Amino acid sequence: MKFFADTADTAEIADLASTGLLDGVTTNPSLIAKSGRDFMEVTKEICGLTDGPVSAEVVALDHETMMKEAEVLRKIADNVCIKVPLTIDGLKTCKALTKDGTMVNVTLCFSANQALLAAKAGATFVSPFIGRHDDNGVNGLELIEDIRIIYDNYAFETQILAASVRHATHVLECAKIGADVATMPPKVIKALANHVLTDKGIEGFMKDWAATGQSIL
Ligand code: E4P
Repeated sequence: MKFFADTADTAEIADLASTGLLDGVTTNPSLIAKSGRDFMEVTKEICGLTDGPVSAEVVALDHETMMKEAEVLRKIADNVCIKVPLTIDGLKTCKALTKDGTMVNVTLCFSANQALLAAKAGATFVSPFIGRHDDNGVNGLELIEDIRIIYDNYAFETQILAASVRHATHVLECAKIGADVATMPPKVIKALANHVLTDKGIEGFMKDWAATGQSIL
């Protein structure tokens, strides 16, 4: 399972990249706005921090303008992945871009039928949003399960990129279902390493080691 950081905060991305555990980055217009930085400049910087795909989202709603925006975005770096919304125009753009070998992430997916369309459009990634479903009283994980079944039925190569991941349990369940990727805020990636018994174990080992009076270095 690949881990993407869902952020445009370059300091956090650099920190995660240094662990060797980061496989890519996703951004969206809200995350770019939160960074307070120029879209092109921050996206270029992010592309230099990871070898993995970096999703940069178009903001046009019609196919022609999406294609023009994608043309600008894909010149930023070889690892840019064009993010398009799950609309008919977005799917049309996905089909056109993937024909040339450009990576495309079809985002704002809230149903398995939408994911089926994204796969038929040749998407590299589809982004089903778990947390936003949960916020509305719908179990977002069931969406991931349905998409996994459908994609396996037809051997679609589109990767399921679980998005709107809010906590460690989402990650665990996505891994059990077989999502290909989870994109999550840096704090969620780091939280995966936490366990109270690990902390307690370290404390005990340190105390016993100190009592030996020895050192390794
Ligand atoms: C990822 O590509 C999405 O933009 C992101 O995961 C949305 O997450 P949110 O629902 O927490 O805003």
